[in-house]
Amino acid sequence: MCGIVGYIGEEQAAPVLLGGLKKLEYRGYDSAGVAVHNSSGLHVVKAKGRLAVLDGILEGGATLPGTVGIGHTRWATHGAPSDVNSHPQVSDGGLFAVVHNGIIENYLYLKNHLKRRGVAFVSDTDTEVVAQMLEYYYKGDVLQAIRQVTDRVEGSYALGIICAHCPEKVFAVRKDSPLIVGLGQGENFIASDVTAILGHTRRICRLKDREIAVLERGGARFFDAELDPVEKQEELVEWDVAAAEKGGYEHFMMKEICEQPEALGKTISPRIREGRVVLDGIRLSKEEIEGLSRIYIVACGTSYHVGAVAKYAMEKLLRLPIEVDVASEFRYREPILDSRTLVIIISQSGETADTLAALREAKRQGARTLSIVNVVGSTIASESDDVLYTWAGPEIAVASTKAYSTQLAMIYLIALYMVQELGTMPQQELAGLLAQLENLPRLAERCLAEKKEIQYFASRYFNAGDIYFIGRNVDYAASLEASLKLKEISYIHSEAYTGGELKHGPISLIEEGTLVVAICTCRRLFEKMMANIREVKARGAVVLGITTPQLAEALAQEADCLFAVPDTAEFMLPSMSILPLQLFAYYVASMKGCDIDKPRNLAKSVTVE
Ligand code: AGP
Repeated sequence: MCGIVGYIGEEQAAPVLLGGLKKLEYRGYDSAGVAVHNSSGLHVVKAKGRLAVLDGILEGGATLPGTVGIGHTRWATHGAPSDVNSHPQVSDGGLFAVVHNGIIENYLYLKNHLKRRGVAFVSDTDTEVVAQMLEYYYKGDVLQAIRQVTDRVEGSYALGIICAHCPEKVFAVRKDSPLIVGLGQGENFIASDVTAILGHTRRICRLKDREIAVLERGGARFFDAELDPVEKQEELVEWDVAAAEKGGYEHFMMKEICEQPEALGKTISPRIREGRVVLDGIRLSKEEIEGLSRIYIVACGTSYHVGAVAKYAMEKLLRLPIEVDVASEFRYREPILDSRTLVIIISQSGETADTLAALREAKRQGARTLSIVNVVGSTIASESDDVLYTWAGPEIAVASTKAYSTQLAMIYLIALYMVQELGTMPQQELAGLLAQLENLPRLAERCLAEKKEIQYFASRYFNAGDIYFIGRNVDYAASLEASLKLKEISYIHSEAYTGGELKHGPISLIEEGTLVVAICTCRRLFEKMMANIREVKARGAVVLGITTPQLAEALAQEADCLFAVPDTAEFMLPSMSILPLQLFAYYVASMKGCDIDKPRNLAKSVTVE
């Protein structure tokens, strides 16, 4: 996720752009830049690092005169953070400057197409392809050039564009990434969200997919994908700035819970093409995969819980031994690794000290390393042999939600990629699983639409002293994460146990009124879980069941209440069952008045041992 602003008016553009970008830094902050028109042409100033670096170079905007411009603060997806990969990206001939939020899924194809026609590229970004295409198709009409480009690019984009031949205009177009137009008196704006422009105007128009906006000082005109003029409904924004930064949500955590369908789509969609898994960041050949003797999955906290799911999923699909380790234990247990071992490192931040140390131990012993990371260019990403990025966008809340979901999706993609390369699964079965994986964003959307039920249940138990989560197989793996979510933001004591383990000790903890959350989505172990539910109810427990619609009627015979999540392939079920339990943790913590985005004693990235 990145932040985009654009301005045309009577004021100096650079200070306005910098002010807007400051409000958008939560969307991305590894580099920033601006492009401004003035009497001597189109000028671009951009730099790696936080916005403060750019602000210093521009001396608050004083060093770059001009009243028309665009700006960008970046969350890297394609191309590590660097000056050259920063936006605005500029076309070969300097005719177009472009800022972009989104992912151009077919950028490599388009880039090669242009390179074969002599276009020189300077960056690793997908965005530069858009700038180069605009210049390639420009025959004197910017709108026509925009149409040519948007007819060809696949993926998501919110684009701010200025053209050296049109110094009195700012252009904007979007598909799947948000972009708004702000309407002022003698000045107009574009922005990724209202946060950036609330200080200037509350009058906005929201662009729909493929709609193009042309901003001039006197106003804005709008066109559809066929370049026919369209009339836009003007809105008046009531939000205050603090609410706007969270997209209108009270906390970043709820915003990020609700962003999961979009984040899943951005992580999955570009990697399934024409019925095959295409992993851009992995160089494991079929022979190397066939030669693997073992896979280790090493991480901390929530990322470790992804490994717990991965063990069930990957052993089921690959029939290869999978070991899952907490990073802080891994290097001290003297693991036995060699060149036939693959170590998968999972980290949202890419900077967790224990996980980085585990990566270095794996490399010291000659193992192959593959990392799943959300922050492009982070230390773990840069030191791994291969890296696959989750495109979840910045995760601000300390409690991880969308990172967990997109890490799970990446694990499914890796496992299915290996199966595909090994040829060990009938094509029809593989195609079916890929279809279910591609459908996860829609199922997640459906699941998150049922917030009220969870909120009601949380209102009955937010004063609980202890809450236990039980499950078997992938449901147990999901219960680990559900328990951590609850304890880290509500401070309620919580544990996760396998259903079968209760009778070996933990059941002594159950007393009258104890809340037990039973995750029972795994059909083939459902009866076993029903027996566990009867065990705890016989000791006075209250049971919340999480299951699928097909099992709900049977579960209702035993559970005190239940929440049904959409059914999917067994190994993907944690991607569904975790959603109501993220919400449960959120609502319990909210009702307890806890600091949800910044829980006590915790940091977003633990860069110390
Ligand atoms: C999860 O909600 C916590 N914020 C924490 O457990 C986190 O998952 C852990 O510190 C690992 O962080 P990483 O994924 O950035 O390496």
